[in-house]
Amino acid sequence: MGKTSKDKRDIYYRKAKEEGWRARSAFKLLQIDSECQIFDGVSKAVDLCAAPGSWSQVLARKLNENYQEALKEGPASPPKIVAVDLQAMAPLEGVIQLQGDITNTSTAEQIIAHFDNTRADLVVCDGAPDVTGLHDMDIFIQSQLLLAALNIATHILRPGGTFVAKIFRAKDVSLLYAQLRIFFPYVYCTKPSSSRNSSIEAFVVCKDYSPPEGYEPNMLNPWLTEEPCDFEKLTGVNRVVVPFVVCGDLSQPDSDMCYPLNYEGKEYKYHEPVQTPIAPPYEEALLISRRRAEKNVSTFDDSTDFSEIDVEAAIEHENKSSISGIKWALNSASNNSDNQPSTSAKTVQDEDSGEAIDGLQNLYQLDISVSDCSTENEYKDESLANDMKRVLIVSANNDFDNESNTVAKTANDAL
Ligand SMILES: C[S@@+](CC[C@H](N)C(=O)[O-])C[C@H]1O[C@@H](n2cnc3c(N)ncnc32)[C@H](O)[C@@H]1O
Repeated sequence: MGKTSKDKRDIYYRKAKEEGWRARSAFKLLQIDSECQIFDGVSKAVDLCAAPGSWSQVLARKLNENYQEALKEGPASPPKIVAVDLQAMAPLEGVIQLQGDITNTSTAEQIIAHFDNTRADLVVCDGAPDVTGLHDMDIFIQSQLLLAALNIATHILRPGGTFVAKIFRAKDVSLLYAQLRIFFPYVYCTKPSSSRNSSIEAFVVCKDYSPPEGYEPNMLNPWLTEEPCDFEKLTGVNRVVVPFVVCGDLSQPDSDMCYPLNYEGKEYKYHEPVQTPIAPPYEEALLISRRRAEKNVSTFDDSTDFSEIDVEAAIEHENKSSISGIKWALNSASNNSDNQPSTSAKTVQDEDSGEAIDGLQNLYQLDISVSDCSTENEYKDESLANDMKRVLIVSANNDFDNESNTVAKTANDAL
């Protein structure tokens, strides 16, 4: 890359060099200020994740201007700026520098120590992790940086103070907004024009710091660290615990396990559903099939057999034994209706169950036409027959809660 190519490509990069800012990020803070007036009346500020220091430069310039203005009114205390970063930063006049990780308690404590008995008016954080390219991971780390910054802010920000921080506008960003709203009645999401559109970066501007009544800032590790923490130390509003209630005990069946039908010495017995479906999804398929059968074939020949090839071609992934099960059910149902009724035959005599028998018969008949089809229309029949078979077989296998399904169930039992 040529020496001037970045200058040509990025106007803010070039302007930053021209105006003496250490990084183009300076323009982001300046643009946020021109929209949200974050420096009004500010004399003490913290710059978290500050290197190489362009935000600290902006803070130094703006707070100095405020100081000069205040001096015109009378005595005023000089500005105080504390800047922190993991990386070392070249010195800046009027800026106290700390090197450390803001997610470490010790760094947070050092920052707080600098404000011994005093409070900051403004806390800013432009922290960004070294992105890994794993978006979820980057977003998570970014949000942890934000929470670490917020936690530090709760220790040192004066009531009414302002907090500005970088966020990644990703899918769970509303959770962060909700967390910030606990402490600030005004939370805005801003995107300065110097921040590239291609970046999901944005900045929250949170105004009028007002912690919940009784809230006491603590260093009990609300961010990334593996150290165990004693949440028992938190009480009242500082520790909102929603009760977790376990119901039932270990003697109860486990809802995630599969149990055999004959369980705990009790023989399995099928029970009819307490309430059958009013309009089952397979009802229409049964009706269509019956109408078709009435049109095409007037008698049902139960001696006709499926050919293995047709069955396999028609129902690609179905088990062949399902078909034979259905046929077995048809035969036994029709035999039983002629002879002495058995349990299943009794059901067959029911009107509703008759529908299912009709459906199965039609399936049987359609299968014959499928094996002979040669014209386009007959291929349509084939697809209908396949659909029909699927409905019935799925019904049988799923044991749908329907009286008319008893026959299908009988077929299924035979598998
Ligand atoms: C985009 S740069 C900040 C630029 C700065 N605002 C400026 O204007 O020059 C992000 C900074 O976050 C710092 N950072 C990332 N994680 C940090 C952490 N856990 N603690 C402190 N600084 C961190 C990085 O070292 C990096 O310097």
